[in-house]
Amino acid sequence: MEWNDNLLTGVEKIDNQHKELLRRVNNVLDACNQRKGKEIVGETLDFLESYVAEHFHDEENLQIESQFPGYEGHRQLHARFIKDLKDLKSRFEKDGASILVVIEVNKTIVGWLRDHIMKVDKEFADYYKSR
Ligand SMILES: [Fe+2]
Repeated sequence: MEWNDNLLTGVEKIDNQHKELLRRVNNVLDACNQRKGKEIVGETLDFLESYVAEHFHDEENLQIESQFPGYEGHRQLHARFIKDLKDLKSRFEKDGASILVVIEVNKTIVGWLRDHIMKVDKEFADYYKSR
């Protein structure tokens, strides 16, 4: 998946965090193509856990500061993603890097990128830039 400047919020910190996530997603996709998905999945889950804690916090603060009208709905999407991640992590801890867990991790982060960063965050970015 490729970065598109259209996704820029103009806030360097947020944009760098988004780019970092894209890099991670591509690493996971590459690893899966090389049949090395199992090796990367634990590492990716650990990364995502600390990534979302920091990134969502930064993004939500920015939304509050800028009085973004979609803040509440956006915050709920973040909370749901944190919950999905937690569920994935406990499955991983229970079952190990089974092929099903690898596929699920893949689906979750690709979906997040496509449905959240490329749509929901983009709406916020447009709002933020147009103020
Ligand atoms: Fe977001």
